[in-house]
Amino acid sequence: VDHNQVAGLRVLVVGASSGIGSEVASQLAAKGALVAACARRRDRLEELSGAAPLECDVQDPAQCAAVVADAVRLLGGLDALVYVAGITRITPLERSGYDDWLEIFATNVFGAALIARAAIPSLSADDSQGRALFITSDAASLAMPGLVSYAASKAALARFCQGLASEFPALAVTEVVVGPTAGTEVADKLEPEEFIKWATRWYEEGYIRHGMLHSPDVANMIVDTLLSHSPPAQLIAAAPEDETATSLEESRRHAEAEP
Ligand SMILES: NC(=O)c1ccc[n+]([C@@H]2O[C@H](COP(=O)([O-])OP(=O)(O)OC[C@H]3O[C@@H](n4cnc5c(N)ncnc54)[C@H](OP(=O)(O)O)[C@@H]3O)[C@@H](O)[C@H]2O)c1
Repeated sequence: VDHNQVAGLRVLVVGASSGIGSEVASQLAAKGALVAACARRRDRLEELSGAAPLECDVQDPAQCAAVVADAVRLLGGLDALVYVAGITRITPLERSGYDDWLEIFATNVFGAALIARAAIPSLSADDSQGRALFITSDAASLAMPGLVSYAASKAALARFCQGLASEFPALAVTEVVVGPTAGTEVADKLEPEEFIKWATRWYEEGYIRHGMLHSPDVANMIVDTLLSHSPPAQLIAAAPEDETATSLEESRRHAEAEP
């Protein structure tokens, strides 16, 4: 695929109601792709111009299968799946029960696996470009204190990508390793005082290894990869290491800077 052939590319973006996913869906639609945009918040999906809104909670296995069937029907097949859906919670290990682990893994790993499973027949069709992209995190290779379940889920998703590619060599599977990114709602559900307590440690103890990007930049890298002739198995979508903030305050200034 090249940029001139985006028109008509059939893409399902999962987790398209805010942040990186909504930027990916908008950028693709603006380039003329046929986009199905899925997430739980239907009102937010309806604000996306040029994308078909599909309501789906990826924590529900039946909804994972149904949303892929709906997208395939709407788009007339599927060229690419972009799985962006993900949640973060502060889950110190001594306070993390089964339900805490389940919520994170159901969204970040099981949803990805079940959506991919449902999409494999369409992505493997003769007329499909057969692309599948999954968003992991720099936390997949370094578990920050307080975020261990999130990091473990992203590490699992990274291995899932590798395994999907090994079982289906005809598919072009890409793990997108995203670094700190502003302009998203990923931290909105974190209790502010808890966040400050743990995030201060991340900066002081060297867990943050990249500068700050803004969601349109990350989305742009994802879209370019989706459209490239041979997508890599792994894309690092993160700002350079030498731009890494040295404190939480500095990172907030970077986040507020114009993209
Ligand atoms: N921002 C960062 O610094 C950063 C860094 C590394 C990796 N990432 C990863 O980037 C991805 C996108 O995050 P973001 O930063 O753009 O955050 P965001 O604005 O919170 O976006 C998350 C998206 O996932 C969807 N989602 C969450 N739970 C879902 C569920 N049960 N069913 C369906 N959709 C669900 C949300 O939609 P609804 O709530 O409407 O369902 C939303 O569209 C995530 O996988 C995140 O882990 C982000």
